[in-house]
Amino acid sequence: MKTVRYGIIGLGNMGTTHINNFAKENNIPGAEVTAIADIKKEKIDRILTKFPGKNFQCFNSGDELIKGADVDAVIVATPHYSHPDLCIKALNKGLNVICEKPAGVYTKQVKEMIAVAKRSKALFTMMFNQRTNCIFRKMREMIAAGAIGAIKRINWIITDWYRAQCYYDSGDWRATWAGEGGGVLFNQCPHQLDLLLWVTGLKPNRIRAFCHKGKWHDIEVEDDVSAYLEYPNGATGVFITSTGDAPGTNRFEVLGTGGKLVCDNNRVLTYYKNDMDEREFCKTYKGGFGEPGYTVSEVETDGLNLQHTGICRNFTNAILGKEPLFVDGADGLDSVVLMDAMELSSWLDKTIDLPLDDDLYLAELRKRIASSRRKEAVSGAVFDTEGSYEGGVK
Ligand SMILES: NC(=O)c1ccc[n+]([C@@H]2O[C@H](COP(=O)([O-])OP(=O)(O)OC[C@H]3O[C@@H](n4cnc5c(N)ncnc54)[C@H](O)[C@@H]3O)[C@@H](O)[C@H]2O)c1
Repeated sequence: MKTVRYGIIGLGNMGTTHINNFAKENNIPGAEVTAIADIKKEKIDRILTKFPGKNFQCFNSGDELIKGADVDAVIVATPHYSHPDLCIKALNKGLNVICEKPAGVYTKQVKEMIAVAKRSKALFTMMFNQRTNCIFRKMREMIAAGAIGAIKRINWIITDWYRAQCYYDSGDWRATWAGEGGGVLFNQCPHQLDLLLWVTGLKPNRIRAFCHKGKWHDIEVEDDVSAYLEYPNGATGVFITSTGDAPGTNRFEVLGTGGKLVCDNNRVLTYYKNDMDEREFCKTYKGGFGEPGYTVSEVETDGLNLQHTGICRNFTNAILGKEPLFVDGADGLDSVVLMDAMELSSWLDKTIDLPLDDDLYLAELRKRIASSRRKEAVSGAVFDTEGSYEGGVK
């Protein structure tokens, strides 16, 4: 195989961005989009008008594309509930799969998908494009190398997701239990929840969260969340998010016994390095109100932040046997566990111990789906995401 032929399933905001990325000359060498699918004809027509020179095979659904397209790989860019189903079908057909975030809505279904991916010879990855950001790669590398010692506290306040009501009114699936399965946690935050785990190398074992439903918008799911996390090593953390804050904040801090890393706006990484390990200082210092001295520096990185293009380049090269896969698709489960645990904690008004009770979560979700409102008046608008993926990437 010299060229990897891709099928794009779902031609909304994200599917369109993927097609644009593949269409840019030499942006994703060795790859070409040859097939497209959407259940809405106007979405297909829109792409055909936008790319008049392309001879795409067109399909009226993801299922049809998977069955009939001459492709080697697919990108599943449909609403969340359909991710596991479409990915399983594609993997069973032997197609290599990139799944958009989140891996799914509920852990039970995501686990089925990962089990199929493990049995398959085809490659499976998650579109965790934020992992390509030099800042997060550097944070992960420094933490793994012991730059801040043993982790004590992990805080992320990520409230710069402002969304006006028209965003929620653009699609019938958006911000509904039945269509989307959740709000800001499931749509905007899968990247941050993935990074919280990937950058620190730690998984929490207890979560207490407060998810406010429709606090700032006319929606039935959460648009404002404050969560408290506990980790097996004794570390604690908070995760705060909202689509209603303007101006919002994006500050990710990881504090250890040896210092602190602070990432502001996905762009600037500051390193506070203690002169002495805080635990050692605490036990040995005799002077009263002192604290460990520290130095502060801005961390240099390789500056690379390839985002979706980076994931697609790596996936193409991995299929062609040129480099290892950057993101193991099985990692998609862990961020879904966090979203589900936060939601469940709020629904039941109690702390959730992990591992998550998958059946309990699904039973509680089904109650919300049963009372989910059907959205009638939707604009169907496709918004241009171009330019929103550098630095302050969502
Ligand atoms: N990685 C990122 O940075 C990023 C950014 C935005 C959205 N996303 C993700 O991409 C996915 C799509 O989001 P969006 O904003 O493009 O939504 P959207 O509503 O704009 O587009 C989804 C499209 O999928 C189509 N569709 C639904 N079911 C289908 C099926 N079975 N077969 C074929 N097409 C089908 C819909 O008609 C619609 O056109 C979501 O999972 C979202 O979380 C990822």
